[in-house]
Amino acid sequence: MKKSQSGISRRRLLELAGAGAVSTALPFARPAIAQGAAIKLGVMLPYTGTFAQLGEAITNAMELYVKQKGGSLAGRAITFVKVDDESEPPKAPALATKLVQGEKVDILIGSVHSGVALAMSKIAREENVPTIIPNAGATALTRALCAKNIFRTSFTNTQVGLATGRTMAAEGIKRVVTCAWKYAAGDEFVQGFAETFKAGGGQIIKSIDVPFPNVEFQSALAEIASIKPDAVYVFFAGGGAAKFVKDYAAAGLKASIPLWGSGFLTDGVEQAIVGAGDGVKTVLHYADAVDNPQNKAFRAAYQAATKKAADVYAVQGWDAMQLLEIGLKAVGGDVKKRDQLYAAMSKASFASPRGPFKLSASNNPIQNFYLREYKNGANALVKTAVTAFADPGTGCRLSA
Ligand code: BEZ
Repeated sequence: MKKSQSGISRRRLLELAGAGAVSTALPFARPAIAQGAAIKLGVMLPYTGTFAQLGEAITNAMELYVKQKGGSLAGRAITFVKVDDESEPPKAPALATKLVQGEKVDILIGSVHSGVALAMSKIAREENVPTIIPNAGATALTRALCAKNIFRTSFTNTQVGLATGRTMAAEGIKRVVTCAWKYAAGDEFVQGFAETFKAGGGQIIKSIDVPFPNVEFQSALAEIASIKPDAVYVFFAGGGAAKFVKDYAAAGLKASIPLWGSGFLTDGVEQAIVGAGDGVKTVLHYADAVDNPQNKAFRAAYQAATKKAADVYAVQGWDAMQLLEIGLKAVGGDVKKRDQLYAAMSKASFASPRGPFKLSASNNPIQNFYLREYKNGANALVKTAVTAFADPGTGCRLSA
């Protein structure tokens, strides 16, 4: 049977595609460019459910990056093997095992949901597979559970909360109600927010939890209306974020109680919240209008390739490939030289569409955070709220 450079038969690749584990960068397509077996990237992301669009944006950007490089990184063809994790943590161990032990992927990439990433990373640590987290912010993964093989191109949930609390306190806001999905991420977005918001003189008068991935917000909105805080701080993302913003406006709260959130509230859902979202303020490590040549080129290429506007999730996917390429170049494409690969990745510093990107000692991005205001279908950049802001990485002993 005819074999590809990866040693996998063309028939096997097509079987994987049919089974939902889709290989999109076929290594045998470019034999003259990439030498040796293809590097397999095992991608564990949500392609269904409330975070489906987030998983798609990350994937689109990763594939676009590799395509721009002619299908190879550091001289090695790249193959994507994708699985839909459905943002369901109980399914994550089996999926990660399938990728690592079944498909024998060289690199693991995932996920969006913190609970899925926590389960996936346990296997990644045990198997010492080079792993890049392109979204999930579970704070422990780059604190107490940090590992030399685990890298993040996104954020910690706490880091985003800390940056937002600080920004809202600086705006003079005093009495806030928080509202977030009740799972690891929502809890951490609120904890981080509380720390800096209170330190800046603010007060949290009520914290409302909504079970994940519930999008029934009426009782939360009724409670907010009766409390009448100075502002509301929320964490929702994807389909749930769009629904919350629309429900908040429909409940008549928008004019009287300013709505704030981590930027996931309005990122990637710009077209779904036209009108309803006007005036919503958010803090995030990305804004469409970040003024650097990398962002302009990235947004234009992404728009041309996907017919969609780039968002923060796409940026994180793009940077996952930038980070990987730096590591692969350092080892001449030999992914088995793991310690050298990790050393190069942990020292990586590059120009991201989000602004300057480098990793902390616990392998989490040190990055700018932007204050944005949604208006007329877009998140306008108001100002850089915090420059080169790091999660403290408390409990990580990597640098010791
Ligand atoms: C998380 O679960 O970590 C997460 C999901 C969506 C957006 C941001 C964080």
